[in-house]
Amino acid sequence: MQHVPVALDRCIALLAPAIERAIAEKKSAYVIDATLGLAGHTSELLSRYPELTVIGLDRDLAAIEIARTRTAQFGSRIIIVHAVYSEIAEVLASLNIEAVDGILFDLGVSSMQLDVADRGFAYSQDAPLDMRMDQSQGISAYEVLMTYDRNTLIRILRNFGDEKFAPRIVDRIIDARTAGTLNSTKVLADIVKESIPAPARRTGGNPAKRTFQALRIEVNQELEILTRAIPAALSVLTISGRLVVMSYQSLEDKIVKSAIATVCKSGTPLGLPIDLPNSAAKYRLLIAGSESASNEEMIDNSRAQSMRLRAVERLAA
Ligand SMILES: C[S@@+](CC[C@H](N)C(=O)[O-])C[C@H]1O[C@@H](n2cnc3c(N)ncnc32)[C@H](O)[C@@H]1O
Repeated sequence: MQHVPVALDRCIALLAPAIERAIAEKKSAYVIDATLGLAGHTSELLSRYPELTVIGLDRDLAAIEIARTRTAQFGSRIIIVHAVYSEIAEVLASLNIEAVDGILFDLGVSSMQLDVADRGFAYSQDAPLDMRMDQSQGISAYEVLMTYDRNTLIRILRNFGDEKFAPRIVDRIIDARTAGTLNSTKVLADIVKESIPAPARRTGGNPAKRTFQALRIEVNQELEILTRAIPAALSVLTISGRLVVMSYQSLEDKIVKSAIATVCKSGTPLGLPIDLPNSAAKYRLLIAGSESASNEEMIDNSRAQSMRLRAVERLAA
């Protein structure tokens, strides 16, 4: 399976000072890979740092299976846990680990999830309407489309997909579900295409992209989970520990940006020359704003094109 980890060297460079400091002080270091996926970033981290242990989380059992094989050579230095990333603190507690030196989030779907047609993530392949990252629980895209009311579906397509033609698409979805024909990703992709006026179809790539993204976000409750996950991750970082996050769409990036801006802000009123006791910021931005992938990487790996990278360091307890 072809898989190219995004911004691999940059992510490792951002985590490196925290990992190297821990190794120098304790002869060991811990990193959480909150989105283990196919273990691209994790394998490289484990190869570069023989004293490092990675705790890899993923909600997708198929990804875990592949990651397990790919990281088998690292033995007990990789601990793989089937969990959603908002459960970071609970996972660490269950492992009796208090804090970690680095945390990486590489958000979104993996190349495996897109490539395996029957998962239903790809609008370019015909498959059942599933889209669950964790197929062991939750409701599928089919159930969302068959059971949600018109207004809720319109809101999902507008808010999570920025879809201007949401009412037209949803009306056709409702016709198809009433007729009993809404049964595959191809049917859905065709409905979207037919709902969008021809001139609008000619710009912005495949018109189904926005609807599929919106449904995927709803099915997996991606934004709610991410909103809980970033504060949880920040809270389990050791002092000098680092958090690195890669987002691939603006709603995710907004959540990450706001969560880290909150903790990087001093509580001292503006205008005072020094921080009041206990009100200095406990984290600092490692990147002012966000960073994109390099031009070369964007050309080589289309997935890197929409990536936004943010990173912070913990300064105090
Ligand atoms: C882009 S891939 C990660 C790829 C990985 N960095 C690599 O190089 O192989 C994102 C992974 O995060 C997982 N994921 C998405 N949302 C999650 C969540 N809320 N909790 C845990 N894992 C999640 C997906 O199942 C997917 O395997």
